[in-house]
Amino acid sequence: YQTLRPFPPHFLWGASTSAYQVEGAWNEDGKGPSVIDARTHYPEGTADYRAASDHYHRYREDVALFAEIGFKAYRFSIAWTRVIPDGDGEVNPAGLDYYRRLIDELLSRGIEPVVTLYHFDLPQALQARGGWANRATVDAFERYARIVFEAFGESIKYWLTINEQNMMILHGAALGTLDTQLENPRRDLYQQNHNMLVAQARVIDLLHQMHPAAKIGPAPNISLIYPASARPEDVMAAFNYNAIRNWLYLDMAVWGRYNSLVWRYLEERGWTPVFSPGDREVLESARPDFIAFNYYTSQTVEASRGDGQDEVARAGDQHMKSGEDGVHRGAGNPFLPKNAFGWEIDPVGFRNTLRALWDRYQLPLIVTENGLGAFDRLDDDGQVRDPYRIDYLRRHIEQLQLAITDGVAVFGYMPWSAIDLISTHQGCSKRYGFIYVNRDEFDLKDMRRIGKQSAGWYRQVIASNGLDF
Ligand code: BG6
Repeated sequence: YQTLRPFPPHFLWGASTSAYQVEGAWNEDGKGPSVIDARTHYPEGTADYRAASDHYHRYREDVALFAEIGFKAYRFSIAWTRVIPDGDGEVNPAGLDYYRRLIDELLSRGIEPVVTLYHFDLPQALQARGGWANRATVDAFERYARIVFEAFGESIKYWLTINEQNMMILHGAALGTLDTQLENPRRDLYQQNHNMLVAQARVIDLLHQMHPAAKIGPAPNISLIYPASARPEDVMAAFNYNAIRNWLYLDMAVWGRYNSLVWRYLEERGWTPVFSPGDREVLESARPDFIAFNYYTSQTVEASRGDGQDEVARAGDQHMKSGEDGVHRGAGNPFLPKNAFGWEIDPVGFRNTLRALWDRYQLPLIVTENGLGAFDRLDDDGQVRDPYRIDYLRRHIEQLQLAITDGVAVFGYMPWSAIDLISTHQGCSKRYGFIYVNRDEFDLKDMRRIGKQSAGWYRQVIASNGLDF
C-alpha cells in the first residue's frame, strides 16, 4: 500500500483478563466453587493458584495502573459463582457488589468495560449435575445472564457470551469438558457444544430485548488453518479443520445453522446432537452485533496418514496436539519462529485470520486476546524488561493496521493480558501482562505491581492511536 489507513477514532485499545485467572478470593464473600476451583490437576507446577493475582482485593490499584497506561477499554469476566454460588440458586449480593465497584471504578476513569459472561469457570454445583450435558444448565445460564444484565445492563455497552467455546470442545480433556468415563465421550461433547450454542443464542436475544442499545457477540479462539503443502489432500485437510475448529462455532452464532461439512462429519461418527423443542427457532433468531475473537497463532495441518497416529502426533513442539485420527494431522510450520513455550509466532497469520473472518461474516470484529507468554524477570534494579513482548505486539499491531487497510472493520484490540495472571495450562511463571505481579509458583510474596517496559511502550501506542508503535 502507498498509504496505510489509520486506526479508527475511538478505537478500543485495552487488554484482557478472566475472573479465575486474576481475582483470587475464590472462596471469599460468599463465592461458590467453580470447576476450576475444584480441579485436582493444577496447571503445571502451581501451588496456591487460586490466589491468582489477588485482583479482587487490589482492583482499585490495578485500574489506576490501567488508566496510567491509557487503556480505553478493559475486558474482564464475571465469575458466575460469585454472583450465584451454586449456579442456579440464591443470588449473592456481595458478588454483584464487587462487580458494581469494579465497573464504577473503570467508568470513573473513562475505561470502557467489555464483559465476558463465562470464561471456563462453570459452577461446580452445575457440573456435579451433568454440566453442559444437562439442559438445566442452559436455563441456569440464561437466568444468570438476566441477573447480570439487570444489574449492569445500563453501564455496559459490550458483552461477550462464552470465552473460547471451541477450545472447550476441542481440548475438552484439558479444560474439563470431556468425560472419558462415558461410552461415547465425543457425542456427549457435541451435545454439550449444542447446549452451549443454544445458551449463547438465548442470552443474545435476551440482552437485545432488555437493553437494545447494548451489543453482544461470541468470543471463540480463531486461527486460520494452513495446509502443510500444496498437495490437494493437505489443502482439503486444512479446509476440513477450518470448518471443525472455526466455522462450526461462528456459522451457528452468526447464521444460526450448523456448518454442513461439520454436520456430515458428526453424522458419520454418530455424534450429532439432539435438538430440544425451540432450539432451532432461537438459534435462527439470535444475531450477534460483532465477532470477538482470540488469536495467538495460526495452525498448520496435513492430510491424515491413516495410521491411527494422527491424534497423538504433536505438531512440532507445540504444546497442543492438533490432530484427529482419520481427519487430519497437526504439522509444524517451518516458516515460523516459536516462543519459549513452543507456540509458533505468526503476525501475518493474524492479518490472514482477520481477513478470513471479515470476508466470511461481514460483522465488525474486536480482538479480545493476543499476546506472548514468557518467563519475565524482575531485575535487581526493580525493572522488568520485556522487549520480546513489545516485538510480538508490535508485529501484530502492524498486521492489524494492514488488515484495516485491506478494508476489514475492527473496533478494538485487547491483548492478553492486562496484568500477570495464572495461565490456563502452565502456571504463573508463564506471564503475559503489561504489569508484573511479584509472586511465583510457590511463594505469594508481596504481590506488588510493577509496570513492565511493555506498559510504557503500549502507553505510547494508545496515546498516538496506533501511529507510534
Ligand atoms: C486463551 C484463554 O485460551 O489463552 C486464556 O482464553 C488463556 O484463558 C490464554 O490464559 C493463554 O493460554 P495459556 O494456556 O498460555 O494461559
